[in-house]
Amino acid sequence: MVFEYNYLLEVKNLKKYFDVGYGQMLKAIDNVNFFIREGETLGLVGESGCGKSTTGRVLVRLYEPTAGEVLFEGENVHQLKGRAAREFCKKAQMIFQDPYASLDPRMTVRDIIGEGIDIHNLYKGKERTHRIYELLNIVGLNKEHADRYPHEFSGGQRQRIGIARALAIEPKFIVCDEPISALDVSIQAQIVNLLIKLQQELKLTYLFIAHDLRMVKHISDRVAVMYLGNIVELAESIELYEHPLHPYTKALISAIPIADPKLERSRQRLLLEGDVPSPINPPQGCLFKKRCGFAKPICEEVKPELKNSGGEHFVACHLY
Ligand SMILES: Nc1ncnc2c1ncn2[C@@H]1O[C@H](COP(=O)(O)OP(=O)(O)O)[C@@H](O)[C@H]1O
Ligand SMILES: [Mg+2]
Repeated sequence: MVFEYNYLLEVKNLKKYFDVGYGQMLKAIDNVNFFIREGETLGLVGESGCGKSTTGRVLVRLYEPTAGEVLFEGENVHQLKGRAAREFCKKAQMIFQDPYASLDPRMTVRDIIGEGIDIHNLYKGKERTHRIYELLNIVGLNKEHADRYPHEFSGGQRQRIGIARALAIEPKFIVCDEPISALDVSIQAQIVNLLIKLQQELKLTYLFIAHDLRMVKHISDRVAVMYLGNIVELAESIELYEHPLHPYTKALISAIPIADPKLERSRQRLLLEGDVPSPINPPQGCLFKKRCGFAKPICEEVKPELKNSGGEHFVACHLY
């Protein structure tokens, strides 16, 4: 069947609430909308707990949404059944932050990478072995690594194994959930460069999650900024860095150190004051109002919607 679709992935009015008991709901994702074009990388940034991983997990069907839909190649992924559901699992993969916790310590690298190949019945016997060696090669490891266990590797190498495992079933789309946050700074660029190279060679589409804007800058075509379960700004990567609109994005950008000491000393820093409100019973109006230096009366009452401020630069703020 051929489907007509504009974007590889489209997220519409997505909500994910967790029941935390006593009749209370934690709003981990509250009405999120975005799309991802085929072959591009959308960066997703925001402080810890703002809902990034939950978003990634809903996209690849690890979680059911509370409301809204995720369209992949035009189809609602949470309504897929049987063979169509298995096909989707092959097309959409996830790479995790902690490559140690996400790799089974009792399995060899060969078995870790081979698992998906077996589940989806892709290769057998010699071809399977050949494919595993090929994947090790693609991620910068070699066949001597196949019979070792995860603890025998460094953090960067373990993340390479995680990437090989995701690639084993030839996905189109990968959610990279903070894949470099747990790594040494010196290794981070290597893994980002590997992901960029793989994207070009294999025509992959990424959602690249990070808590730090600096990390997504290099790899993302566009960046979405998340705050307390909502996207507050979304724009092309360079546009977002050079012309941030939302006070929260401005604060995040001003927190990135500049390499030039003279510039670093002279610039103004916007400090984020106050705490993030709780996602359980979040307040009325704008969720950023208590930390924003520019809040107006309307910000107390009405929650701003994400609006196009021109040229696909979206912002959820009453100041624009
Ligand atoms: N399984 C769960 N049950 C209850 N609350 C959860 C669960 N997973 C995440 N949360 C809560 O949802 C919010 C968003 O979490 P998460 O998506 O992991 O944030 P991030 O990845 O941005 O750090 C947090 O308040 C977190 O405590
Ligand atoms: Mg997370």
